[in-house]
Amino acid sequence: MKNIVVVGAGTMGNGIAHVFAQQGFNVALTDQNKQQLDRAAATIKKNLERLRDKEKIDTNLLTASLDRLVFTTEPANYYKNADLVLEAVSENLQVKKIVFEQFSKLTPTTCLLASNTSSISINILANFTDRQDKVVGMHFFNPVPIMPLVEIIKGDATSEETLTTIKALATQLGKTGILANDAPGFVANRVLLPMINEAIRTLGENVSDVAGIDAVMKLGMGHPMGPLQLADFIGLDVCLSILEVLYDGLKKPHYQPHPILIEMVQAGHLGVKSGRGFYAYTNDPKNPEVAYKNHP
Ligand code: CAA
Repeated sequence: MKNIVVVGAGTMGNGIAHVFAQQGFNVALTDQNKQQLDRAAATIKKNLERLRDKEKIDTNLLTASLDRLVFTTEPANYYKNADLVLEAVSENLQVKKIVFEQFSKLTPTTCLLASNTSSISINILANFTDRQDKVVGMHFFNPVPIMPLVEIIKGDATSEETLTTIKALATQLGKTGILANDAPGFVANRVLLPMINEAIRTLGENVSDVAGIDAVMKLGMGHPMGPLQLADFIGLDVCLSILEVLYDGLKKPHYQPHPILIEMVQAGHLGVKSGRGFYAYTNDPKNPEVAYKNHP
């Protein structure tokens, strides 16, 4: 496996492109939005420089990694030679359908088709393609360059050969691949999102404020970020769409998105990426101030 195409240059897409390039793969990162691609290129360079400054990689590897990356709005030629294509577009089934239909048309039949979806069914995505045995979930975690997990999702038709290749690939990327079957939210988000939703409900019922809830989970449970800061970090729109998939699929009340989350997304408060969520990220993004005030 040598040539990778990553589709979608948002937070996850740029992190995924980064780790593949750093581990020696040729990567074409593609997005319809040129500005998004420019931002991704700048972010990858900054993150590689950060790793170089911490002496986790040397300057040669930094330069070689950047040389292995192409940023393009015209991926057709890269699809032709791809060994693996991986989509990291928005969590929207219609958008993913278009991408997977293109994968079928434009890549060689030997090419594996992966999705970084955080909750959408791999079986549904496989149905949009001409090779269900080669469709697999490769779910990375933010920040991709440092989080060691890849959740590997097996659809009903995913072949053992595909799973073995993807598991070995995760190892090659310096990550641990953990296998999950196709079910709403897989393992990670089925367990994580109810906690975030419950933290929002706890806030809504004035049990404590944003800082208090996050401090309890950081200091009491050893979480690196409290659930409300983590929600901002993931993106409140992403949290909402994952909860919608979970609620739709599992019909349990604790997956029903809390109204505060829905209102914040409708107001455009999406967390870190929009500059404001439960916290405001405009002044010092590393030490954000609480933006959502509820407590009497
Ligand atoms: N690229 C490269 N390195 C990075 C990085 C990036 N994007 N972001 C952080 N780092 C490195 C830093 O350089 C630092 O390295 P050293 O340990 O060598 O100093 C290290 O990571 C820690 O970073 P910071 O010192 O800047 O900050 P921190 O200690 O507060 O850690 C954090 C930041 C790693 C993000 C930590 O807060 C954390 O682990 N948070 C939880 C993240 C999490 O849960 N992610 C999963 C979200 S769920 C998801 O992504 C999937 C989904 O489907 C929703």
